[in-house]
Amino acid sequence: MIQPPAQLSSLVTVDDYEVAARERLTPMAYDYYRSGADEEHTLRRNRDAFARYELWYRTMVDVSSPRVATTVLGDDVAFPILVAPTAYHRLACAEGERATARAAAELGSLYCASTLATTTLEDVASAAPDAARWFQLYVHKDRDFTARLLARAKAAGYRAIVVTADTPVLGRRCADVRNGFCLPDGLVMENLVDALPPDLREGAGSELARFVASRHDPAFVWSDLVAIAAQAAPLPVVVKGIARADDARRALDHGARAVWVSNHGGRQLDLAPATIDALPEVVRAVGDRCEVYVDGGVRSGTHALVALALGARAVFVGRPVLWGLAAAGAEGVAGVLTLLRDELIRAMQLAGCPDLESTRDDVVRRRLAPAGSFP
Ligand code: FNR
Ligand code: LAC
Repeated sequence: MIQPPAQLSSLVTVDDYEVAARERLTPMAYDYYRSGADEEHTLRRNRDAFARYELWYRTMVDVSSPRVATTVLGDDVAFPILVAPTAYHRLACAEGERATARAAAELGSLYCASTLATTTLEDVASAAPDAARWFQLYVHKDRDFTARLLARAKAAGYRAIVVTADTPVLGRRCADVRNGFCLPDGLVMENLVDALPPDLREGAGSELARFVASRHDPAFVWSDLVAIAAQAAPLPVVVKGIARADDARRALDHGARAVWVSNHGGRQLDLAPATIDALPEVVRAVGDRCEVYVDGGVRSGTHALVALALGARAVFVGRPVLWGLAAAGAEGVAGVLTLLRDELIRAMQLAGCPDLESTRDDVVRRRLAPAGSFP
C-alpha cells in the first residue's frame, strides 16, 4: 500500500506539488518538464481557458454517495483522471516510470507509458502487472522498428496503443535550447537503445530535438494509420494530439477507436487553441462514435469537471504527475492523483452531480466575455 508520507500533507494543491518538485529537480530537469513551446502562449492558454467556464450548479440533489468510477475502452478506472504519457520519469526519481505505474495502479487510475521512457515498456508493465495500461507510440521513419516496438507493447499486455499525431517535429522549448538539454549519464531512452543516432550527444541545443529530427517521421499521414491500426489489432488505437473536428473524423475513418484532444501541454505548436476550447467541437463531431479524452492545463478537480461536462470521457494529466514524482516518488504521484480525485468528487457534490452521467447536462457554460473585451 502506497502511503503518502506526512510531509505531503502540507501540499494541498497541484501547484504546491510543483513548488516541492522544483526544490528537488535540477534546473535542467525542471525546465524540461515545465516548458512550453516558443512564447508559451498555448501553455498559458491551456490553464487560463478554464476560467472562461462557469459551473451552473444544481442544489438540493442527494450527493451523499458520489460515483466516479467509469471505463475507458472497456477497462475499469476508479475515476476519470488518468496519467498522460510523459518522457524521462527517472529525471524525477530513481524509480521513475515504475513508481508512476505503481501509484496509478494503486489508485485505480490508468497509466499511458511514453515511448520515450527511461524504463523499458516491459519493466513498466512488470511494476504493476495487474493494472490496465496504455502505450504511447511515436511513429519512426523506420517502420520496421516502429512495428517491433508496437509488437513489444502488445506482448507486454498493454491494452491500447496511443499514436501521438502532434509531433512530426519537436516544438522549440527555449529553455532546453539554452540549457543544452540532454539526459544525464546513466539515463537513456530504454525503449530506443537500438535506435539512438551515434552522434546524439554531439551538438548544441536540445538532444531530444536532435533525436526527434533524426527518427520521427514528418511524412506520417492518415493513410499510414490504417497499417498501424492493423498491426495493433486487436488492441484499439487512440490518436492523441487532435485539435480539430475534421481530424477527429479522419482518425476514426482511418482505424482509430478513440480520439484524444491535446496540444502536447503547449509544447508543440504555439498559439494552438486551449484544449478545453477545442474539446466541444470534437465531441460534437465524433462523441457519438467514440470516447473522447482531453489533456492540457488540468490542475484541479474543478477543471476535470468542466472537461467531463463538455463531453470528455476522461481527462489526462501530465505535469501534475511529474511534480508528484519529483516531490516524493510513487507516494507523490499517489498524493497528486488522490488530491485531484478528491477535488473532482467535491466539485461534483457542490455542482449537484451525484454521478458522471449527471455532469453531462447543462452544468457548464462558457462565460460570455463582456462586450468590447477581448475574449
Ligand atoms: C509530454 N507529453 C508527451 N506526449 C506524448 O505523446 N509522448 C511523450 O513522450 C510526451 N512527453 C512529455 C514530456 C513532458 C515533460 C511533458 C510536460 C509532456 C505531453 C503529455 O502527454 C500531455 O499531452 C501534456 O503534458 C498534458 O498537459 P499538462 O497536463 O502537462 O498540462
Ligand atoms: C516532449 C516529448 C518527449 O514533449 O513528447 O518532451
